[in-house]
Amino acid sequence: MKKTIAITRGDGVGPEVVEEGVKILKIIAQYTDFEFIFADAPAGGRIYKEYGDNLPQKSFDIIKTADALLFGAVGLPDLPPGTAESAVLKIRQALDLYVNLRPIKLYSSLKNRCPLKDEFIGKGIDITFVRENTEGLYANKGAILNDNIAENIMVYTRKGCERVIKYAFEHAKKRNHIKVTSVDKANLLKPSQLWRKIFHEIGEQYPSLEKEDIYIDAFCQWLIRAPYKFQTVVTGNMFGDIISDEGAFLIGSLGMASSGNIHPGKVSMYEPIHGSAPDIAGKNIANPIGTILSVKLMMQESFNSEKIALEIEDAIEKALYEGRTVDLKEKGVKVLNTQEMGDLIANKLKANLKK
Ligand code: NAD
Ligand code: IPM
Ligand code: MN
Repeated sequence: MKKTIAITRGDGVGPEVVEEGVKILKIIAQYTDFEFIFADAPAGGRIYKEYGDNLPQKSFDIIKTADALLFGAVGLPDLPPGTAESAVLKIRQALDLYVNLRPIKLYSSLKNRCPLKDEFIGKGIDITFVRENTEGLYANKGAILNDNIAENIMVYTRKGCERVIKYAFEHAKKRNHIKVTSVDKANLLKPSQLWRKIFHEIGEQYPSLEKEDIYIDAFCQWLIRAPYKFQTVVTGNMFGDIISDEGAFLIGSLGMASSGNIHPGKVSMYEPIHGSAPDIAGKNIANPIGTILSVKLMMQESFNSEKIALEIEDAIEKALYEGRTVDLKEKGVKVLNTQEMGDLIANKLKANLKK
């Protein structure tokens, strides 16, 4: 199966972690029926500095005609906030990538790196955040009106709520979850009141699944108090952004968390949830696993290859017992740099795919 994958390396640690994602894709191509053609599609701060555009038309043309996009991260500290980052939003909007799938799973090898005590970890952490990805405060309706007032309007539409909530229920069904949790702020926000109504309307079509509503503020404490209670969690754009970073640290590091920006059946974008991490950029110490797990999501969601996806995850689990990047350091486990971590996982994957 021949697939074209657009590659956006981006800024900061972006190129470093994407390199390791590409390494994994090359292993897949070597040991399975997949054939990958890689097409560079630069975006972000560095390209902005060169061309005055954070997403040149040439890059977007490559992205929109590819089978999937692997994206690093964008953002440079010497540019005004948003200058590079709006490229991410342009891609999500232009391709109508209405689902942002953000799973977090605490691997047994990383149990000691979870900041929670055992009693709070309970029977483990394995949650899929389904974040609405084109609306809410990200609908791009806002402005700095003058030096004293700025606004962003939070827009939820019925169509936007229905499609992502439906996706969440289908995901829960597929993964044999017993419950779908909706996170909102319906005690204050009008868009959340519409969201909650639609959540229950759609929920009626799934009688075998439990439904639960939690306010975002309380959810933030439940997520660290009893993360084992949650399976599929569906929420709006801004809330999803925040709780997924909180969740990422529960599984050991922001560098561990992956994401898929998805429009089922269309070209989708896979990226770690972290940013360009300027504090560690250029040091070859960034954790590449969030990116490698994003490749896993690509195999699952865009290329319909559950088997390869599971082999990637298994390779990561095994590798983490032997070596880790410094963000996950633990006595008795070797500290590796970004490339060495990628190599270790690639070797484990090679062994898995050969068998
Ligand atoms: P960040 O996610 O880049 O970093 C937060 C902290 O997590 C830092 O201490 C960093 O070193 C650490 N971290 C992040 N990724 C890591 C990895 N792979 N391995 C180990 N540690 C890692 O968040 P920030 O500092 O708030 O943002 C930096 C820039 O990235 C900003 O310009 C921001 O707007 C941008 N950003 C971009 C994206 C994206 O491109 N999708 C996402 C988030 C933030
Ligand atoms: C993310 C990022 C983006 C977001 C930024 C860069 C616009 O934080 O992908 O989580 O807020 O969605
Ligand atoms: Mn974020």
